[in-house]
Amino acid sequence: MTTENTKVSYDTLIPNNVGLVSDRRVLKGLEQWHPEFLNWWHNMGPDGFQNVPVYLRTAVSVDRDGWAQFGYVKMPDYRWGILLAPRIEDRTIGFGRYLGEPVWQDVPGEHRATLRRLIVIQGDTEPASVEQQRHLGETAPSLYDLRNLFQVNVEEARHLWAMVYLLHKYFGRDGREEAQELLRRRSGDSNSPRLLGAFNEATPDWLSFFMFTFFTDRDGKMQLESLAQSGFDPLARTTRFMLTEEAHHMFVGQSGISRIVERTCSAMLENGLHDPYDIERIRTLGVIDLPTIQRKLNFHFSVSLDLFGSEIDDHQLITATYPVLKLEQGRIKSVATAAMPALNARLRDDYERECARGVDRWNTIIRKAGIPFTLSLPHIAFSRTVGEFAGIHADPQGHILADDEWDQLKHRFLPTTDDEAYLNSLMTQVLAPGEFAPWIAPPGRPIDNKSTDFRYVRLTS
Ligand SMILES: [Fe+2]
Ligand SMILES: [Fe+2]
Repeated sequence: MTTENTKVSYDTLIPNNVGLVSDRRVLKGLEQWHPEFLNWWHNMGPDGFQNVPVYLRTAVSVDRDGWAQFGYVKMPDYRWGILLAPRIEDRTIGFGRYLGEPVWQDVPGEHRATLRRLIVIQGDTEPASVEQQRHLGETAPSLYDLRNLFQVNVEEARHLWAMVYLLHKYFGRDGREEAQELLRRRSGDSNSPRLLGAFNEATPDWLSFFMFTFFTDRDGKMQLESLAQSGFDPLARTTRFMLTEEAHHMFVGQSGISRIVERTCSAMLENGLHDPYDIERIRTLGVIDLPTIQRKLNFHFSVSLDLFGSEIDDHQLITATYPVLKLEQGRIKSVATAAMPALNARLRDDYERECARGVDRWNTIIRKAGIPFTLSLPHIAFSRTVGEFAGIHADPQGHILADDEWDQLKHRFLPTTDDEAYLNSLMTQVLAPGEFAPWIAPPGRPIDNKSTDFRYVRLTS
C-alpha cells in the first residue's frame, strides 16, 4: 500500500484527497452542485438544530489511525469531503470473468451503464435515509442520541458526495444529470420516490431509527463490502473508506436497542412484573414492551432482506453449488444451486448470521433479567415483497399461511396501529444534559470518552 493520497487537502471548498485543485472540470462541476446540495440539506436534512454547534467527528485523513477529528460544528458548515482509501499497488480483479486482470482506473465502455447504475443506486440510499430521519430531532430522547442522529446524517450526506464525485469524474454529462436527480427524488414521494423500497418507508419514532441503523445500515454495509471488491478501482477505494464510517451507524442501532431492552427489563423487575405479555401493565410504566420490539424487528428485518434482491441472479455458471431456500410445490425447501448465481443468497445468509449475533446480545440482557422472552429473527420467507417468497404469506417461523389466515394473524407479527400510537405517545423531546427519556437507558460507552452529561449539542451558548 502506498502512502500517497492519505493527506486530505482543505484548500478548496471541498476537502479531498483526489487532487481536485488540478482537476478543473470536476472541481467546477462539484462547486456548482454544492449550493444545490446545501439547498437540499436545508429543506430535507435535519429539521431544526441547523444553527447550533454539534459535537461531530469529521473525516480528516484516510489513515487507519486518527482518520477522524471531533469538534463542535454547525451542520451546514460540516466539511463534506471526498475521500478515497489509499490505492493498493498492483491490485487485480478477484473474481469472475476478469479474474487476475489489473483493476480498471477508468470505466470500461462495456460496463459503463452497469457501473453508473450501481453508483446511482448506492448514491440514492444516502440522502434517502437523511430524509427519512429528518423529524427525529423533535423527539430526541437525549442530547447524546440527538448527536448520534446528526453524526449519522452528516456522514450519509458525505456518502452522497462520494458517489456524486464518481458520477462527475467518470460519467460525463449523464453522470452530472444523475447527480442532480439524486437531489430531486424524495423518500416516500409517490411521484418521485427513492429507488429502493426500504428507503421509502417512514422512520416515525426512535425505535424505528435504531432498527433502521441496525438492519438497513447493515445491509448497506454489506453492499459496500461487495462494491469495495469492484474491478473499477475508484469505486472500490471510495466504498472502502465509507465502510470506516459505517461501523458507527450500526453501533448506534445495536446499542440503541440494547438500551431500550435494558430499560424495559429493569422497569419490569422494579415493579414486580415478570410476564412479558402483560402488555397493559408494562405500558403503564412508560417503557416499550418486548413483543412490540419483536414486531418492529420483524418489520425491519424483512424490508431489509428485500434489498438483497432475488435469490438467484444471472451471473455466469460455475460448477460449485450453494444451498438456497426455494418454494417448491407450496413448500419451502433447501435446494443446491450453482454458486455464482446464488451470490445474493450467500450475501444474504451472511447478513442473517450477523444480525443474529446482534439479537443474541439483546437476549443476553433479557436472560440476565430472568424474563421469559427471546427475541428472534423472522424466517427468510416472512413478509417479503421481492424474490422467491414475494407471492406467499409465511409466519415468522416460516409456515406458509393462506391469505385469510395471514389477515387474521398479521397483527401478532407486524407493528399494529395501536403499537405505533403507543410508541408515538412515548416520543417526547429530552434535551437537558445527562437526562434520558424514561424508555431508554443511558449509554454504557459515551462518544469520545465524554461524560454522560456532556453537552453533545450546544443549544445555548
Ligand atoms: Fe451511507
Ligand atoms: Fe450508514
